[in-house]
Amino acid sequence: MDSKLQDLIQEQIGHEYYSSYLYLQMASYFESENLDGFAQWMKVQTREEREHGDKMYEFLQDRGVRVILRALPQPPSSFASPLDVFEKTLEHEQKVTSLINGIADQADKVNDRPTKAFIQWFVSEQVEEEKNATRILELLKKFKPDSGAVFQLDHQLGKRE
Ligand code: FEO
Repeated sequence: MDSKLQDLIQEQIGHEYYSSYLYLQMASYFESENLDGFAQWMKVQTREEREHGDKMYEFLQDRGVRVILRALPQPPSSFASPLDVFEKTLEHEQKVTSLINGIADQADKVNDRPTKAFIQWFVSEQVEEEKNATRILELLKKFKPDSGAVFQLDHQLGKRE
């Protein structure tokens, strides 16, 4: 397997686990604000990111590449408001999208067919990730902080499983 491609996926495993870490930190913020529905949404997000990292781990190992885990940075832990959290979430997902596209570009460049097929799932997933974060962000922009609408949204987000 192309060494640059391997390295990008090794790094991406760290980015996915970092995403899990970041969203868990956001969940703890929401719990401290008694917004348990937002916290639940973030906990599901945390689990999904862990699964993304695991998928990449399995893929590399299946290709005969030993995974070497990288250090994770400390995520930010103070947030001004739910709006601030979702601005950071969308920004983070946009960054992840560009990293995934970078892997897809390198797989195309070296014509690694298994990686091309594998990474396509992540390309589509990023459309969902950005859509979900944008939708919540746009709603929060419309609501006054501490308005009933925020609590209604909290109730709705708490249904995510
Ligand atoms: Fe694994 Fe939210 O991208």
